[in-house]
Amino acid sequence: MAETLPEFAPLAGNERADVCVVGAGMAGLSTAYLLTRAGKSVVVLDDGPIVSGETERTTAHLVNALDDRFFELERLHGHKGARLAAESHTAAIDTIERIVRENGIECDFARVDGYLFNAPDAEPDLLDRELAAAHRAGLIDTLIVDRAPIGSFNTGRALWFPRQAQFHPLKYLAALAKEIVRAGGKIFTGTHAREIAGGKQAHVGTTAGFVVSCDAIVVATNTPVNDRLAIHTKQRPYRTYVIGAAVPAGSVPQVLYWDTEDPYHYVRLQAATPASAGSFSDILIVGGEDHETGQADDAEARYARLEYWTRARFSMIGDIKFRWSGQIMEPVDALAFIGRNPIDHDNVFIATGDSGNGMTHGTIAGLLLTDLILGRENPWAELYNPSRVTLPATTDFLRDTANMAAQYVDWLTAGDIEKDRMVRPGTGAIVRHGLTKITVYRDMDGTFHECSAICPHLGGIVAWNHGEKTWDCPAHGSRFDRLGKVLNGPANKNLHPVESPENK
Ligand SMILES: Cc1cc2nc3c(=O)[nH]c(=O)nc-3n(C[C@H](O)[C@H](O)[C@H](O)COP(=O)(O)OP(=O)(O)OC[C@H]3O[C@@H](n4cnc5c(N)ncnc54)[C@H](O)[C@@H]3O)c2cc1C
Ligand code: FES
Repeated sequence: MAETLPEFAPLAGNERADVCVVGAGMAGLSTAYLLTRAGKSVVVLDDGPIVSGETERTTAHLVNALDDRFFELERLHGHKGARLAAESHTAAIDTIERIVRENGIECDFARVDGYLFNAPDAEPDLLDRELAAAHRAGLIDTLIVDRAPIGSFNTGRALWFPRQAQFHPLKYLAALAKEIVRAGGKIFTGTHAREIAGGKQAHVGTTAGFVVSCDAIVVATNTPVNDRLAIHTKQRPYRTYVIGAAVPAGSVPQVLYWDTEDPYHYVRLQAATPASAGSFSDILIVGGEDHETGQADDAEARYARLEYWTRARFSMIGDIKFRWSGQIMEPVDALAFIGRNPIDHDNVFIATGDSGNGMTHGTIAGLLLTDLILGRENPWAELYNPSRVTLPATTDFLRDTANMAAQYVDWLTAGDIEKDRMVRPGTGAIVRHGLTKITVYRDMDGTFHECSAICPHLGGIVAWNHGEKTWDCPAHGSRFDRLGKVLNGPANKNLHPVESPENK
């Protein structure tokens, strides 16, 4: 769908705007759009094309049936917090629907039902507890039904969530980008934000040396590249995997499905338009098999398990047409961090930690940050406050911190292999060089490319990801392409290049 996205030029001079938004994914473009509607002048910067981050990889379920369960949200945030979470995600879906309608956006937006069904080892009362908690959170139309509508598999009892939705995020965001520009906003791509400075002289400095001066900055880079540690101790990066299987047109109803396994499976249908009866023209999109970034390197096995799981339940699927993986930031207390960046000036804002609900969290970011920047009250501000301390999440916080600290043990271990020359063409490996470690990627013509394996964020040791051909940092989820160029924050710099003795 990349051809549906408008193209923009890199920043080629200094600019001035009310707000500079860094990152043109769901969160950045939603925020920029709502700010322009509120009368603010906006400059958006992205170091790739627009929508080239995790938003490009999403499966785009739009839900208020949140993936961490309402009884868990009650434990973490109390009854009021769970109610505000349900209210804000409901408002996010309504907002997307309204924007689609007002702008006549053709993005396949559809209201659909959602079904949560038990995994084989689920606690017997899980669905009942979730039903009661969903009702207390205000989702009073939620019901238990005998089974989810899958003809070829009896799910057993399922929770039915009405008025969920799905859409095509690239088509939606392409339209938002055009509306931002129509309203006087400016978008620059291929522009890496290197310096993000709040305060009276707020500005964003780019690698090319240009500056955007502004009154406020929104950092919507999925994981904030301007935050050293405060946020990165409160969220963990996960890889998640997706397959797209051909199914006969009309053989699977257009609904959303989730199970209660940990990690859970998420399923939706992309119906062919126009439908051609009987042909394998619909695509069933199934995700799951998540693991902590940099802590597993078995993508093939995970895709195989996803296919096995899908064939066991949707016996009508044909060939696997697509597969891809992406990154999710899991907050320790289940809700995104949207608001003022901790330990920073009051005019620097972030949106991150959006879990598997980043489409609605990104829209909530637009609504909430617009209010904060305009000095308006917002009932969700405290719930999503990035500086919040959620006491019931302390055990999870300590477990995650221990896991994060354990990743630094890689400083002491041997490399993956002893000799650079044993790296097979088209792959990479970590090699120990004296006291330090080196990434070695060997391209198909045999040339070695070496970088320091030390992550420029806070010194974790990166690991090779065979599935994506990337270097992934297990500490806080930074990722780099095979040649060391940064792909995902929080690192905001490339791996440091090293001259390979093999090439001399
Ligand atoms: C496989 C998968 C399935 C998912 N399914 C769902 C789902 O069904 N429903 C749902 O709600 N959510 C889902 N999510 C989550 C959701 O897709 C993400 O949370 C969301 O897309 C994140 O949007 P974002 O704008 O925060 O980040 P991104 O889309 O990653 O955008 C960040 C942008 O910042 C730019 N950037 C980074 N650093 C810099 C810099 N220094 N200077 C300039 N630009 C920079 C990047 O180029 C990028 O374009 C899924 C995620 C994945 C990976
Ligand atoms: S992401 Fe923090 S050290 Fe690598």
